[in-house]
Amino acid sequence: MNDAARPEGVPRRPAGDPSAESPRAAGAASVADPAAGRPGGDAAPPAPPTLEVTDLHKRFGPEREVLAGIGLTMFPGERVALLGESGVGKSTLLNLVAGLERPDSGTIRLAGQPIHAMDEDAAARLRAREIGFVFQAFHLLPHLRLWQNVAIPLLLAGVPAAEARPRAEAMLERVGLGDRSLSMPRELSGGEQQRVALARALVHRPRLILADEPTGNLDPRTGAAALALIDEQVRAHGAALLMVTHSLQAAAIAERRLRLTPAGLETAA
Ligand SMILES: Nc1ncnc2c1ncn2[C@@H]1O[C@H](COP(=O)(O)OP(=O)(O)O)[C@@H](O)[C@H]1O
Ligand SMILES: [Mg+2]
Repeated sequence: MNDAARPEGVPRRPAGDPSAESPRAAGAASVADPAAGRPGGDAAPPAPPTLEVTDLHKRFGPEREVLAGIGLTMFPGERVALLGESGVGKSTLLNLVAGLERPDSGTIRLAGQPIHAMDEDAAARLRAREIGFVFQAFHLLPHLRLWQNVAIPLLLAGVPAAEARPRAEAMLERVGLGDRSLSMPRELSGGEQQRVALARALVHRPRLILADEPTGNLDPRTGAAALALIDEQVRAHGAALLMVTHSLQAAAIAERRLRLTPAGLETAA
């Protein structure tokens, strides 16, 4: 695939960034954090926000205003659960953040880049580099083996196939499917398929994981196991997580719970 899709020299934040342990209030980004006050006391500058959404508006047709002025700031390692009634616009918000839809107004900065203002190609490149997606319906490619499914983000980023395969297999190992690398998706249970989807979402070390009802198609026990794995792996990778869920159990893994209502984003209990 395309080497141009993976510009060199893009700074990666280290896994286990100490700021991951200290969620900060939205709006704190402009306040300089003295490095000495950071947990671990290293001299690194404060991490910029992973995601900065300001005054986001989106309507579908003249009658249907879905998002009416949404703001959201997320820092590296932060986990946010997004609750809200069906049809309120949760998936729309995720699609906007991923650059799959365009807002009517407002800004979305992903790792500092204004994805709301990019053309489709530039948004696709930024998305491929910085985002991992986990969907309710898994969305594995049925004709590809598990390692090939997991390798897709690496190949999109221009990683040579010879390097992509061992990295994909190592990621499968981390989600407990190291011995299933050659299996086809149809040979797996739903819970196993979601583990593969999680491996695919994380293999290229994106800064932001977007999960849209990731346990919605799983029975409670399998869902709980998938959730524990998402939690563990997102932490291990130091990624930020924005997870849509109806489940209070799922929301409990996040340190911030927000509810989307027609009036906007509110802090949920
Ligand atoms: N591409 C689209 N065209 C028209 N209406 C849409 C489109 N996408 C979503 N909607 C509408 O926007 C609203 C929010 O949808 P969605 O974001 O999927 O809600 P949620 O994920 O919270 O259930 C719904 O009324 C839905 O029908
Ligand atoms: Mg939805």
